[in-house]
Amino acid sequence: MINFDFHKYVNKTVKKEDKVTYLDRAKEIRARFVDGDLSYWNKLDTFVSKEELHKIIDTTKYIKANCDVFVVIGIGGSYMGAKAVIEALSPTFYRKSPEIIFLGNDLCAEEYLEVLDYIKEREVIVNVISKSGTTLEPSVAYHQIMKVMKDKYNEDELKTRIIMTTDKEKGDLRKEVNEVGYTSFVVPDNVGGRFSVLTPVGLLPIAVAGINIVKLLNGATESFKRVDRALEYAIIRDILYNKGKKIESFTVYNAKLAYFTEWLKQLFGETQGKDGKGLYPTSCVNTRDLHSLGQFLQDGTDLIFETVIGIEKDVTVRLDEYDIELNSLNRIALDMVATAHNNGHTPSGLITIDEKNEETMGELIHFFILAAIMGAILLDVNPFDQPGVEDYKKLIQQELK
Ligand code: PA5
Repeated sequence: MINFDFHKYVNKTVKKEDKVTYLDRAKEIRARFVDGDLSYWNKLDTFVSKEELHKIIDTTKYIKANCDVFVVIGIGGSYMGAKAVIEALSPTFYRKSPEIIFLGNDLCAEEYLEVLDYIKEREVIVNVISKSGTTLEPSVAYHQIMKVMKDKYNEDELKTRIIMTTDKEKGDLRKEVNEVGYTSFVVPDNVGGRFSVLTPVGLLPIAVAGINIVKLLNGATESFKRVDRALEYAIIRDILYNKGKKIESFTVYNAKLAYFTEWLKQLFGETQGKDGKGLYPTSCVNTRDLHSLGQFLQDGTDLIFETVIGIEKDVTVRLDEYDIELNSLNRIALDMVATAHNNGHTPSGLITIDEKNEETMGELIHFFILAAIMGAILLDVNPFDQPGVEDYKKLIQQELK
């Protein structure tokens, strides 16, 4: 369960009268999400059908039984959500088999050489994820991996070791699925890349990591019922933006949520940063970053507010020498830092989850997806396109031709 205690540490900047000016727009947006044109965001079927869910669970069993390494190829929305959830919910050491390697999210030759060498002597299954089926980075990775796979496996075996997640009709990957007969999953039409972690895009790699995806989806359905909470967050962000805050830091106090903040940066950056508008999303992993960025947040240019994500009940370690639990010390740090920032010029809104588990991660993911779309509507920008990303993709393609 998410607890939304955002007001506590933003009250110096955001006042009741600021919110009153949003009443009419809030009503309109709410109606669109409750039973209007955007209500599909509150339906599980939008993300994954029952049949696809069963197929994901069956395919997961097959993958676990048949490989040492599961290579997940994808970039942006076809990568970051799965990585975020896996990092948040898996142990750092002694991870379960198979090992999951993400590739195709950069063009770094050193990484390629290491991965290609590493998988040579191991049993491998590959999941290529690309909604468009045309993105450069995953395409490079796919071709490189295929060279190794073709050396390792005969044609029939190879067919069982490539899984594609892509558009139901369009793109090169779907064409290949139709020609060769690879197992495939569909990225739903109306769920763009950065919103797709709760679709087969994220669910398959997450399930292979041993995380319970049914619980993750159950958590998301909790958020379906709480449109108002996401709307309130979207409105407070918009008020802060209009009061001169141009940067939002997603701040966490558990390093396992570090990649979740990367996913948030992508979600908000691509959904809202357009037409010369939007908050620039950044992140802090505390208490580490208190000893670097903390100085700027407290005392630097007055541009930033924080969205702090805390965990109420986490595993803990007893610190006899201080007569306190490590968790309590971490929570004291969170509250004192937020107080100091709010006393200064950096409002620090607080969102906590009861515990870090599948349900709360699912709820958080859906909450932020709703808030990102609502925030874009408040900014009067299209939440669902990413013209800036497309521009650079086109330029690279032209240069390559
Ligand atoms: O959110 C988005 O749409 C983007 O970040 C895409 O996910 C990213 O560009 C990858 O696109 P594709 O899945 O088509 O390869």
